[in-house]
Amino acid sequence: MSGYVLAIDQGTTSTRAIVFDGKMKVAGVGQKEFPQIYPQSGWVEHDPEDIWESVLWTVRKAIKAAGIEAKDIASIGITNQRETVVVWERESGKPIQNAIVWQDRRTANYCEKLKRQDLEKLFTRRTGLLLDPYFSGTKLSWMLANVKGARARAAKGELCFGTIDTFLIWRLTGGKYFATDATNASRTLMYNIARNEWDADLLEILRVPAAMLPEVKDCAADFGVTDPAIFGAAIPISGVAGDQHAAVIGQACFEPGMMKSTYGTGCFALLNTGADIVRSKNRLLTTIAYRLDGETTYALEGSIFIAGAAVQWLRDGLKVIKRASDSGDLAGHADPTQEVYMVPAFTGLGAPHWDANARGAMFGMTRNTGPAEFARAALEAVCYQTRDLLDAMHKDWKNGADDTVLRVDGGMVASDWTMQCLADLLDAPVDRPDILETTALGAAWLAGSRAGVWPDRETFAKTWSRDRRFAPEMDEKVRSAKLKGWRNAVRRTLSEA
Ligand code: G3P
Repeated sequence: MSGYVLAIDQGTTSTRAIVFDGKMKVAGVGQKEFPQIYPQSGWVEHDPEDIWESVLWTVRKAIKAAGIEAKDIASIGITNQRETVVVWERESGKPIQNAIVWQDRRTANYCEKLKRQDLEKLFTRRTGLLLDPYFSGTKLSWMLANVKGARARAAKGELCFGTIDTFLIWRLTGGKYFATDATNASRTLMYNIARNEWDADLLEILRVPAAMLPEVKDCAADFGVTDPAIFGAAIPISGVAGDQHAAVIGQACFEPGMMKSTYGTGCFALLNTGADIVRSKNRLLTTIAYRLDGETTYALEGSIFIAGAAVQWLRDGLKVIKRASDSGDLAGHADPTQEVYMVPAFTGLGAPHWDANARGAMFGMTRNTGPAEFARAALEAVCYQTRDLLDAMHKDWKNGADDTVLRVDGGMVASDWTMQCLADLLDAPVDRPDILETTALGAAWLAGSRAGVWPDRETFAKTWSRDRRFAPEMDEKVRSAKLKGWRNAVRRTLSEA
């Protein structure tokens, strides 16, 4: 059998499909952005049909670019933006409304209400998460309450809930498979991560009927085959993981203590904690890193909502750069004497603050402040936030995390300026791998190894190689002063400030 594996990476702002060959090298790529829908302040939606169209388009493009046919693909791996909620009719496959995206803050009040009922501890103990609108559970509850007749139809089994992976599996298999994987389930606020099952108590609190939930499987498992009417062949789908979890795998962070940070729309740092469920005392999340052969590996996660999105804002909102890749060069020209800070709380602040109502702010501007200082402030903000996450991780997990090297990936890490800034502000080394398609590679490995055409975990881990290590060079006094300025800026941005 051929070693071609197709990874579908369905992200927040674009969909990518990548064909890897039998040597795990990229053979063809398709990429497409799709519309973001902002119905009101703090709300973010996607039309599931746009997502579906983007998947069809990018897969066909990637297959063509690789110079192969659909029948040559041994297996498909799916990885996706997490937490985003889709509900569709079991009979017709039609969504009942737009998907509510992970960034959407519409359930902030509902989360506050649940907190006032003293329920956060229960949710955290069972799911590893916090009561924040970020996660799927309250979004799903909102949809069931606000779309006419939805709750009654869901209880009768007429509606299906899924994160994006589940929706795509359903569509690709012609409605034959209704399943998700343990990593995506672990982001819903409805999944018990210790028992590995949907949690009946939490479903009752959120008023979500169990009849609408998908089956939860290992990350490498049988998720059906594609309907031949779609790509012209019945291709097995045998790998599924949320994008941040697929990046853990793609970065070969298989040992406890290994950590990766991915810089996409947001930034998500995950520290592998092995079979231990480490409970955070510093407002980090506990999550399922991956589940393979029935064995669950856990992680501590720090989630930042705005990373690459701040660069997009420089490009599309402020129009101070033409291409995202220009941001590092522009930042490098900033006036070193100006202490300008940006807190990019465009959709609230994630870990470790979890302030859904905070909004973005700039501090320290003078008459001389211009595009270069804005660019530097935006890139530094991403690095400062990563530092906040790592500080929290070190406090939560003492088993040697202090000397952990951070493996980085995602669009922003191509910028040497940003990576040096990251190492300087972390005061720790940062490793950039040769392969930057880490998320897609992780999904492809799940599918390829399950299909028997790619190597096992140990062999795969050995293929990880470093492009460059960035070592900290900043003077300690300078770093401390900058961190102090950042913390001050954040304090002034928090909604209760
Ligand atoms: O939790 C949200 C995350 O999965 C989104 O990832 O790469 O689309 O920013 P990304």
